[in-house]
Amino acid sequence: MLVGHYLQVLHLHVGCVVLSGSLFSARALLRISNNPLANHRGLRMLSYVIDTTLLGAAILLTLILHQYPFVNGWLTTKVLLLVLYIVLGTIALKRARSGAARVLAMLAALTVFGYIIGVAVQHHPAGWLRLLQTSSLQP
Ligand code: HEM
Repeated sequence: MLVGHYLQVLHLHVGCVVLSGSLFSARALLRISNNPLANHRGLRMLSYVIDTTLLGAAILLTLILHQYPFVNGWLTTKVLLLVLYIVLGTIALKRARSGAARVLAMLAALTVFGYIIGVAVQHHPAGWLRLLQTSSLQP
């Protein structure tokens, strides 16, 4: 029954990925420019709603595909990198004391975010790096 909604759930997941990445980037840039809007209650609530929906859709996708974190390597990688992304995101938005630390944390968080997308698209822990491996095998 759930399988019939695969495409809708996938689109919901990917839509939330776009919104989540965009909102994080916007908040991190506001934080870097010392704008208090970065941690405004409304934006924090919006992040929370988007990220909860993203994860809810992720869980549904694992059930539809019968592939799970700590069973399938690419999904384990995603979960571990998601934790790293959250830690870096918290540093960028809250904990970092200097502007330089905020910029570094934001860039690191966005790099991890982009890598997670590679892991999702490739269904492989190596993510985008897999493209290098594959192309080097071709004549
Ligand atoms: C740890 C929580 C997450 C889990 C368990 C999870 C799980 C999944 C699953 C099962 C799929 C379906 C793949 C398919 O249909 O073949 C998927 C797709 C996708 N996920 Fe996640 N996801 C998670 C978090 C994320 C995050 C944080 C991002 C972004 C940084 C992300 C980006 C994507 C993208 C772009 C796709 C579409 C891939 C494609 O259709 O080629 N996911 N995810």
